[in-house]
Amino acid sequence: MTVDDGTLNLADLRRQYASDSDAWLERLPADPWEEFARWFALAHGSHVTEPNAMVLATASPEGAPLVRTVLMKGFEAGEVYFFSQRVSRKGRHIAANPSVALLFPWHPIERQVAMTGVCTEADPALTEHYFAERPRLSRIAAWASEQSSPLASYAELDERFHAELARHEGIDEVSLPPRWTGYRVRVTSMEFWRGKANRLHERAIYRETPDGWSVELLNP
Ligand SMILES: Cc1cc2nc3c(=O)[nH]c(=O)nc-3n(C[C@H](O)[C@H](O)[C@H](O)COP(=O)(O)O)c2cc1C
Repeated sequence: MTVDDGTLNLADLRRQYASDSDAWLERLPADPWEEFARWFALAHGSHVTEPNAMVLATASPEGAPLVRTVLMKGFEAGEVYFFSQRVSRKGRHIAANPSVALLFPWHPIERQVAMTGVCTEADPALTEHYFAERPRLSRIAAWASEQSSPLASYAELDERFHAELARHEGIDEVSLPPRWTGYRVRVTSMEFWRGKANRLHERAIYRETPDGWSVELLNP
């Protein structure tokens, strides 16, 4: 499809953001986590599906970027948590280059939050705790899939899943697969964006400094 192929003119796909001015930029708190908690609650209470879904950007050792969605499973003390497999592409990227970026694209409420940070593996006790809370079949599936390795056919995955089901028969505890881990992102910058009329959007970026957070407004 081109920008205008006669059926749908992509140039016309333009939404007029309507948020009225409420002097939000004059009321920014000193701590961006306070604002993030407020925005997350707003997204959660609205029609945003999976408000904890965030786009995670990593870069390979050669500097090639890659993005994918993961689920935020917690945020506290300046950190965001998610869970994945260290054998995956993201896992290999993070091991080589811990700089990451996160994006919460909350389109239905005309807001986004973009973060940068440093990503490391979470405390194994936290990973164990979270893994134990997953439904049994998800825990068994984690044994069947080595994330991001090539798969000859979907039937192969199904077969491995059934083999793992059989292996776990009569076993209550599904142990943590060694390739599985939590990740924590220590956030070093956080940018808030609100859609406004006439493309005069509101942006505020917080950056970590030795004395706390600085905040600056940016042109849209
Ligand atoms: C809504 C949504 C949530 C997802 N949540 C996770 C997650 O929490 N952890 C994860 O490893 N993959 C998650 N995925 C799958 C990832 O997007 C990705 O396909 C997978 O992690 C492999 O990425 P990689 O090969 O770049 O490492 C999710 C995908 C979607 C669409």
